[in-house]
Amino acid sequence: MAEIKKKPIKIVETVLRDAHQSLIATRMTTEQMLPIIDKMDQVGYHAVECWGGATFDASLRFLKEDPWDRLRKLKDGFKRTKLQMLFRGQNILGYRPYADDVVEYFVQKSIANGIDIIRIFDCLNDLRNLQTAVSAANKEGGHAQVALSYTLGDAYTLDYWKETAKRIEDMGADSICIKDMAGLLVPYEATRLVTALKEATDLPIELHTHYTSGVASMTYMKAVEAGVDIIDTAMSPFAMGTSQPATEVMAETFKGTPYDPGFNQKLLGEIADYFRPIEEEDLDNGLLNPKVMGVNIKTLMYQVPGGMLSNLVSQLKEQGASDKYYEVLAEVPRVRKDFGEPPLVTPSSQIVGTQAVLNVLMGERYKMITKESKGLLKGEYGQTVKPVNPEVQKLAIGDEEPITCRPADLLEPELDKLEAEMAQWKEQDEDVLTYALFPQVAVDFFKYRAAQRNKIDPEKADVENGAYPV
Ligand code: CO
Repeated sequence: MAEIKKKPIKIVETVLRDAHQSLIATRMTTEQMLPIIDKMDQVGYHAVECWGGATFDASLRFLKEDPWDRLRKLKDGFKRTKLQMLFRGQNILGYRPYADDVVEYFVQKSIANGIDIIRIFDCLNDLRNLQTAVSAANKEGGHAQVALSYTLGDAYTLDYWKETAKRIEDMGADSICIKDMAGLLVPYEATRLVTALKEATDLPIELHTHYTSGVASMTYMKAVEAGVDIIDTAMSPFAMGTSQPATEVMAETFKGTPYDPGFNQKLLGEIADYFRPIEEEDLDNGLLNPKVMGVNIKTLMYQVPGGMLSNLVSQLKEQGASDKYYEVLAEVPRVRKDFGEPPLVTPSSQIVGTQAVLNVLMGERYKMITKESKGLLKGEYGQTVKPVNPEVQKLAIGDEEPITCRPADLLEPELDKLEAEMAQWKEQDEDVLTYALFPQVAVDFFKYRAAQRNKIDPEKADVENGAYPV
């Protein structure tokens, strides 16, 4: 390897976001994070992924924490390491598309509170759904990374990925991520994909995968050899299984090679020692199910994400139709084809999965069509990579006109209306964004926050009569 020029691999640590989202339902608290960030700051990570994704929802809903407060505390602690977040395009961190003014304001406030790198993705890879967030990040001086939702299928040729990468470069992104949420990218395919993307673009390329199918560390190795610039890993107590490959293992793998990230294993060991008791506690209290730590080979056989498989199992169980599991698994790719072959990631994975279950249980395909299926077939989520099946579309929306423009073009600005709705709870500018994303959960949290400060029981407080400061 002597002839290879040094190219240390950059590493993004996910233990504060994806790792605990994937393994313990996003329940790591700010209090659990803060004591170790000083040490983490010394490692030399390219960035620490610590915000966005499901952390925002889980902080408010389950941990009764202000996600903005967490971000500010992390920013105070990480003096030299960049902070990264995950952002669902026009859906921000919520479950519906938002008007551009809300998307822009969210990006502005994320960066103002400490985010350096925003990873933005769309479940259909419709780049029109990413443009507002990318432009806002550019404007605020943040790093806009666009993620390709990786999937398999007839439409997803190397030419498709190359073409998409070029368009991402043209739209003003600073880097590209291959986001393999299901662990479908196998090692030698990673060589082909990274090589192809490197031909198509000069932007740095990051690879994000999950260990679900058991190939992830090998995939990273082949991708690094093919020239990938950045990989995502998690400290060992929260690595493997449905999470990422272990940071210590990848650092050791590349030690003494041109890709050596130069990490100090003793320091990594101390960080792992900190997280291990948290892992053990979560195993004891059942938050961490040992099942998710294994290899789920079905994810490769059926090419669907692990989380979607477990959803199908529980949906069928509820209906007393567990015996239909394999029939449904066979129906998933057919529905996906009818729906324009989208990647299977939130929310398209739920839409396709639920429709497949209905098609099998009703004994007739598309006898019943969900509201979300109709929305997807109508174009409400954006453009699918392949055209949808026109017969199925006709069944779903009849003579209604399909949407062909960028869906958010149909949305009026909504920030003023949201501000008016939540004015009585506002304690900081960011509160309106919290409210925009999860109105009900946000109000519950605002009540809790005020009650905590005034030491009153949120259930008994008389909101109308000014028990809370406005
Ligand atoms: Co992930």
